[in-house]
Amino acid sequence: MTSTTKIYPVVWSGDRAILIDQTRLPNEYETVEISSASEMARAIKTMIVRGAPAIGVAAGYGMYLGARRVQTSDRSIFLAELEKIGEMLAATRPTAVNLFWAIARMLKTARETDASVEQIKTVLLETAQTIREEDLKTCEAIGDNGLSILPTSPEKLNILTHCNAGSLATAGYGTALGVIRSAWREGKLARVYADETRPRLQGAKLTTWECVQEGIPVTLISDNMAAHCMKQGLIHAVVVGADRIAANGDAANKIGTYSLAIVAKAHNIPFFVAAPLSTVDFELADGGGIPIEERDSAEIYQVGKTRLCPEGVEFFNPAFDVTPAELIAAIITEKGAVKPEDLKAL
Ligand code: MRU
Repeated sequence: MTSTTKIYPVVWSGDRAILIDQTRLPNEYETVEISSASEMARAIKTMIVRGAPAIGVAAGYGMYLGARRVQTSDRSIFLAELEKIGEMLAATRPTAVNLFWAIARMLKTARETDASVEQIKTVLLETAQTIREEDLKTCEAIGDNGLSILPTSPEKLNILTHCNAGSLATAGYGTALGVIRSAWREGKLARVYADETRPRLQGAKLTTWECVQEGIPVTLISDNMAAHCMKQGLIHAVVVGADRIAANGDAANKIGTYSLAIVAKAHNIPFFVAAPLSTVDFELADGGGIPIEERDSAEIYQVGKTRLCPEGVEFFNPAFDVTPAELIAAIITEKGAVKPEDLKAL
């Protein structure tokens, strides 16, 4: 990778999807070839590909890869098989709504295409490509819309972010990191503060890696340092991504985001959520209904191969939390930045 290389975590090449293996960054840059829906489901579950919009893009290709293997010319048999492929992909990770949104969009396209099974397959590949291209444009719009809402003083901001909501978590460019990229391009960014983001360390491993690729100054802190940094006047704004936003603006994001929002409020620092409208679940009135993924306890009790605690301890490993809308200064979308209560108007 060079400083001018764009980072695309999911691309289509010939007859397969190519994923950047995010479990190996930053020490190794490897790609993985995906030729079937079950391989794609595994890649999502094991977090080779992760981040809400990127999971949606990957699921779009997963649907096509599954559809391609269905051997029938009977439309209704084909659609029934496609639904099963959708169920398999949907069973991978529960919180990011983009996954379900992309699967539903692919199914709807198939149902509404009045053509032969072979023609539907072609349309499904085109739709998966469209989902990816739309996400790229959406993230650039989010980045630029963020510029209108960031504080204007000081002239160059220090922005804290949590987890990775960058190119790696989207089709490219990123949501929270998209806003940061746009601010950097416009000379409005001094430095990124990246929370390490226990337990999977997406901030330490992925966000810092992305910043280094582009020469964006970045300081890594452990999660429990955020309040201290704010008190020291080192942070001017917080920008994070989201995995699912309820209709009232409550936003689920990586575990630790909620406590970050509370400490930002305590220090009078604006807390922004950057996300595409495909992350908004208008069927949920508030964040109480957002399913929270629980992951393997090994993520908590060991680092690498080293066990951190004795036998006999119990574990709890929720991967996401929900930040109440009242702690969010604005939600930055591709259609503009709005107060959480105005989300419905978009
Ligand atoms: O568990 P992950 O790494 O998939 O979680 C990712 C996040 O929480 C991101 O902040 C979120 O998906 C937004 S990505 C633009």
